[in-house]
Amino acid sequence: MFYLKEIYSSIYKKFKEKNFSSPHIETELILTKSLNLTKEYIYTYPQILLSKRQIKYINKNLLYRLNHKPIAYIFKNKEFFGLNFYVDENVLIPRQETEFLVEEAINLIKTKNLYKISDIGTGSGNIIISVIKNLDLSCNKYKFYATDISNKVIDVAKKNAKYHNLNAKIKFLLTDKLKYFIDNNLKLDIILSNPPYVSEKEYKNLQQEIYYEPKLALVSYTGLEFYEHFAFYGKKVLSTNGHFVLEINSNLLNKIIFLFEKNKYEIVKVVNDYQNLPRVIIIKNSYGKVHNRRWNKT
Ligand SMILES: C[S@@+](CC[C@H](N)C(=O)[O-])C[C@H]1O[C@@H](n2cnc3c(N)ncnc32)[C@H](O)[C@@H]1O
Repeated sequence: MFYLKEIYSSIYKKFKEKNFSSPHIETELILTKSLNLTKEYIYTYPQILLSKRQIKYINKNLLYRLNHKPIAYIFKNKEFFGLNFYVDENVLIPRQETEFLVEEAINLIKTKNLYKISDIGTGSGNIIISVIKNLDLSCNKYKFYATDISNKVIDVAKKNAKYHNLNAKIKFLLTDKLKYFIDNNLKLDIILSNPPYVSEKEYKNLQQEIYYEPKLALVSYTGLEFYEHFAFYGKKVLSTNGHFVLEINSNLLNKIIFLFEKNKYEIVKVVNDYQNLPRVIIIKNSYGKVHNRRWNKT
């Protein structure tokens, strides 16, 4: 048996030795998540004794973290848009900046009366589930789709849909990009997507933690493949008043704008993230009209 404060100090020392940038925060996370206690509790009761079993579990998690495994994968959970999501190494860990996409999507769906909604490359299902949780479903007009190219990913998204009581509301599709909708001649009012947008070149220089995440979720050769596909096939799949709400690689903003304008869409808005980098783009299907209007940068 050891006192909590002794365990705290020994964990803190290990993070410090390994040059983690925030050893206190890392220690707090390992302890609060392993023991299912709040941060306040840990600092208020440093004298509590921990059992051998608790220490064994803490050490197992600590070892993972010292090897840079992301906290979300160690504890198989991530909060997104105020909701809990199960995550494992088959899916991307939901990012805070993707909440901008969800916010824009909810707003657009409500104000423009958009009912046929699809999330392309759904991952943990965080986008579509967060959107649905913020809509009034009593009108019964909505149709929700979530797609991914990987079966294992779809299983995770289904698990989250079940947890949030939405499994009967979402049609999950194992398909490549918009293929299912193209093949079945189905129209959508809004296409949401946070596609893989890191280029092969950029992938070589990322933080250690990122390499635990599936490359399939992050990388497309130039970073532009999904946007090219969307710009081309959107004309077939989107309804007249249809919209895209897409997360983007900030380095590719101008290329993405050029691509969609060239294909006769209207760029409605570009939303910047917490670092003030362009992160989400809203695009309207303008059906052949060429617009001179510039987009609003927020
Ligand atoms: C950046 S992750 C986004 C995950 C989740 N929507 C989010 O925002 O956290 C991209 C997702 O696209 C999926 N994906 C990759 N290639 C695909 C393709 N050709 N067609 C459909 N989905 C694909 C990946 O499996 C991954 O789940």
